[in-house]
Amino acid sequence: MTGKDVRRSFLMYINFWYPIARSSDVTAEKPLRVQLLMLPFVAFRDEDGQARVLADTCVHRGGSLSAGWVKHGCVVCPYHGWTFSGDGKCVRVPSLGDDSKLPARAKVDSYPVQERYGIVFAFLGDLPESERPPLYDIEEFGTGEWKSQLYVFELAAYYERSIENGLDPIHNEFVHPAQGAPMLSPERQREPVPVEDIPWGSKFYIPFGSKKDLNTALASDRTGERLGAAGSWHQGPNQLVTWIDLTATNSFHQYLFEAPVDEGHTRIFFVNMRNWLTEERHDQRIEEVTLKVVHEDIGVLEKLNPVRTPDTNTKEILVPSDYAVVRYREWLKKWDARGWRVDMKALREKLGDVAMAIPSPARRESGNWVLDTVPLLPGDAAEAVSKPVGKRA
Ligand code: FES
Ligand SMILES: [Fe+2]
Repeated sequence: MTGKDVRRSFLMYINFWYPIARSSDVTAEKPLRVQLLMLPFVAFRDEDGQARVLADTCVHRGGSLSAGWVKHGCVVCPYHGWTFSGDGKCVRVPSLGDDSKLPARAKVDSYPVQERYGIVFAFLGDLPESERPPLYDIEEFGTGEWKSQLYVFELAAYYERSIENGLDPIHNEFVHPAQGAPMLSPERQREPVPVEDIPWGSKFYIPFGSKKDLNTALASDRTGERLGAAGSWHQGPNQLVTWIDLTATNSFHQYLFEAPVDEGHTRIFFVNMRNWLTEERHDQRIEEVTLKVVHEDIGVLEKLNPVRTPDTNTKEILVPSDYAVVRYREWLKKWDARGWRVDMKALREKLGDVAMAIPSPARRESGNWVLDTVPLLPGDAAEAVSKPVGKRA
């Protein structure tokens, strides 16, 4: 089977950073189970307080580590007490006694972790550090002028649909008519969205040419003179940024880190930043307005048909205002070509019969693993760069 024959289906990629949990939900007491990319993971803290993320399948007889407990910074399987340290190595098998040599294969995948923005992220893949696509760097995070709020929510929708929604500047007018979303003038809407490539993604950022372009409930609070700009971009398959710069000094910057749970469910970690209305008394109102907008999007996304993006662009009619969506799909193809895309057909056939894990970096250094790695589609370099996903109408 070649890449071309394979349904687009659920486009699931290894070798990117994925949000696992709020930092406050990862503790040194109780391991946390998280499903991502259709597979189970366990998160906990070691004795140094460092967050750890492991494949959640005990290599003894398949116990769920997250149903166990944390002891001395290690996670203990609830079935027979095998104990795994944060690097995934089994350090204790009670039935063998404390003096015996442990089986060399007694290890599970442990993933690189970064903890930023109040979120624990794991790199779900086996690339060495120097080759990894980056976790999105929110430069203004933690600086005095900016305030941040973190919301976490789940939707019964496929993550590619959600990212594409963020890259769609036209839906605001229809989905969020009352919520302060900037709208493009009719002339602007007829032009292709001006998309440019950035490292690991693509971006548009559109200045508002006239007051007509900026139809926002919040505009009445503007203090600056200059009309602003707004845009969105993606970095990797699952990180989405939207900047709404109402004026030179009044901005909302929104960062969505999306965790595909399975083919029809997505968990979103939303870092909402602003450099105005920063007093605490505005927090509740801004959260209410933002989450209302989120739920307006969810209302549409959960009803899209089909749930997953169609196999080909001939099953949709794409117009110039969809160009950022088209470019995103082209980027996904580049990651197909690198061989990072999971073979969903093979995965579905194995689920329930074979325990699988996303390969971790340690697999490049040693063999002898018990869990199968998820099946991947072979890369196809030729298709990588050249072939556009679809033509613009
Ligand atoms: S299955 Fe985990 S200790 Fe036996
Ligand atoms: Fe929206």
